[in-house]
Amino acid sequence: MDIVICFSNKSEDSWLKALRQALPNIGVYKDGDVPDSSKVGVALCWYPQKDLLLDYPNLKLIQSVGAGVDHLLDLDPMSLSVKIARIVDPALSRDMFEFSLAVVLAQMKNLSTYLSDKGTKNWNPIGYQRINEVTVAVLGLGKIGSELASSFAELGFKVNGFANSPKQLNKVSCFSGEEGLERAVSTADYIINILPLTTSTEGFYNTAFFDTCKHGAFFINVGRGGHLMEHDLLKALESEKLSGAYLDVFRKEPLPKEHPFWAYQGIQISPHVAAVTNSKTALTQIVDNYRRIMNNEALLNEVSVVKGY
Ligand code: GLV
Repeated sequence: MDIVICFSNKSEDSWLKALRQALPNIGVYKDGDVPDSSKVGVALCWYPQKDLLLDYPNLKLIQSVGAGVDHLLDLDPMSLSVKIARIVDPALSRDMFEFSLAVVLAQMKNLSTYLSDKGTKNWNPIGYQRINEVTVAVLGLGKIGSELASSFAELGFKVNGFANSPKQLNKVSCFSGEEGLERAVSTADYIINILPLTTSTEGFYNTAFFDTCKHGAFFINVGRGGHLMEHDLLKALESEKLSGAYLDVFRKEPLPKEHPFWAYQGIQISPHVAAVTNSKTALTQIVDNYRRIMNNEALLNEVSVVKGY
């Protein structure tokens, strides 16, 4: 059976080339170029159109090209006979750690302030934080979150981790449950979101959450835009409960030009680039899943449609 690549906001070209090389006898097409849609058995997806399953009626596997699958859980109509798998790649976890570390260190050492001071020729030294004085809270301890939390701890940061269910990680104080959330967050200088986006974590970062934060905490969202109540973030920044925010992900991507986040001084922005699946390191598991689904074998990194991760 054939493979279709259905991406929005992302180029398919490197994946098209890589999959054609790895599976030379299989038809691999971009959405829109498929010669016979009834022959498509696998779709490699990144925010595909919602009626994907109507276009490809014989689909057996929807393979997310990312670690997240929130973009695949509300397809219409969702059929239980179609399986969903995601990427689990140590390179992706490492990328997420490196990006989050860069954000935290830049903030600790006031680099964005010095960048804007340069524009106004303002010589203004400010006090800085040291690693051993800083507490980081990592919210979400799945594969990527656990790696993130442990890597920060290895560097000498004090790290609090929070997950839905109890976890244990070396050098990380792990919390769960409502009271655990407050304990994880109330002492943290930096809060990093890497929760899965599900119906129970949608809007997780709201006024009630920000009220539990330490005064002057800095919020980093590398999870999903849907986790954040955008207006509540602006309120928390205006009241100075939060000292700033770094956002890599948004409810609507690309972030619309008229969105208030662009102009807001205390918010830094990047275009969903914290950890982007690499076609070199993640190709093998996708090719392997193609073979597995064709042979009715258990998939790698299959996702529970009910749990949403
Ligand atoms: C990136 O956001 C991913 O889901 O891998």
